[in-house]
Amino acid sequence: MADENKLEKIISLAKRRGFVYPSSEIYGGYASVYDYGPRGVELKNNIKKSWWNEMVYKRADVVGLDSAIFMHPKTWEASGHVEGFSDSLVECKKCHHRFKSDNQKTCPDCGGELTEEKNFNLLVEAKMGVTDEAKSKAYLRGETCQGIYLNFQNVLNSTRQKIPFGIAQIGKAFRNEITPKNFIFRTREFEQMEMQFFIPPDKKLAQETFDYWKQERLNWYLNLGIDSKKLRFREHTNDERAHYALAAEDIEYNTPFGGWKEFEGIHNRGDWDLSRHSKYSGKDLGYLEPDGTRVIPWIIETSAGVDRAFLMFLLDSYKHDKDKNRIYLSLHKSLVPVQVAVFPLLGNKLELISKAKEVFDNLVKQGFIAEWDDRGNIGKRYYSQDEIGTPHCVTIDFDTLEKNEVTVRDRDTAIQEKVSIDKLVKYLKK
Ligand code: GAP
Repeated sequence: MADENKLEKIISLAKRRGFVYPSSEIYGGYASVYDYGPRGVELKNNIKKSWWNEMVYKRADVVGLDSAIFMHPKTWEASGHVEGFSDSLVECKKCHHRFKSDNQKTCPDCGGELTEEKNFNLLVEAKMGVTDEAKSKAYLRGETCQGIYLNFQNVLNSTRQKIPFGIAQIGKAFRNEITPKNFIFRTREFEQMEMQFFIPPDKKLAQETFDYWKQERLNWYLNLGIDSKKLRFREHTNDERAHYALAAEDIEYNTPFGGWKEFEGIHNRGDWDLSRHSKYSGKDLGYLEPDGTRVIPWIIETSAGVDRAFLMFLLDSYKHDKDKNRIYLSLHKSLVPVQVAVFPLLGNKLELISKAKEVFDNLVKQGFIAEWDDRGNIGKRYYSQDEIGTPHCVTIDFDTLEKNEVTVRDRDTAIQEKVSIDKLVKYLKK
């Protein structure tokens, strides 16, 4: 498939099959904002579940957190975002589009005249308070990890954790991105899966911990079936590194929209965050070592985007089977929105429908995420389940009534097999 069309095809499939819709369509849309539909919310939840499982449940040294989106506004002064989280841009006087200057004089979009460079802050502002006069400026968080730093002492005091240990969190973040683009790749509202690992301040230990988490994070994508040839690490240059980072490497994926792009960052944030919050809050966020010395822990961070991971899984699993003239998503089985679809061969034969309902109800009772479809013909139903990535379709036909056997079709090979109903659950679980 010509790679340049792939994103367009995925955007179209995502809408057609209920993964992602453009926001506020009935009002003419709202640029670069997206809603996740019935299949999308399942895939997204499964991505988050897999991450949480790997980063929290499978480990004794990482605990979870769910901090609020609003935080004391001083948080963002301390974090350096009010000062350092900005882009210098020019604006077109005619169409008001904004661009990185690049020494151009006229607008690349409409040919209009450009302003001098101005600073645009990426933090999204909100007003808190009831009456107009009493409203005060607040920010929607620009990264989820700040809530982790503000609760570092709370977690220490309320759990058995001692450094080295980590705190993980999944949640929304907001940025006034200048150029949101490429579908859900860069948007102004997005979700992050972040883990902050607190360690004693030591350069060698920081490097070892950084290398360890790099590999752990890469393995997460590989274990979920992402093509290893399309993944790589890339180290940030001195100019690129964020204001808080001593070292930064991205996990990049080779996309059809401009090649290698960042999907996750691994950062050594040193003592930047805890010392800044200590200074701005006047509270000592140090840690008492067993020998009685007080230190400010260093932080190794892993920061992944849920929406970007979602896009990576769609890009990587999108397959065109030319022989059978079908599109299917070869999504990892732990991520699929629907695990099994159940069809009565004909949607108007009562005995088939009633037998198929029995099979469906039993699968649901056994814990499967199942979908029922009795519309149109079998071919169309297969076609739609392939595009959702459903690993198995189970058809109840006249043989089922006679021999208690169903036909199970495999998503990746399109091979159909007869399976006796009493062995179906075991077959699907395997
Ligand atoms: N706490 C560190 C941090 O936020 P970042 O490199 O700015 O680091 C981390 O962001 C990850 O968050 C990115 O690798 C990406 O997956 C996701 N992300 C950042 N900005 C985004 C945006 N505008 N839209 C979608 N995802 C975004």
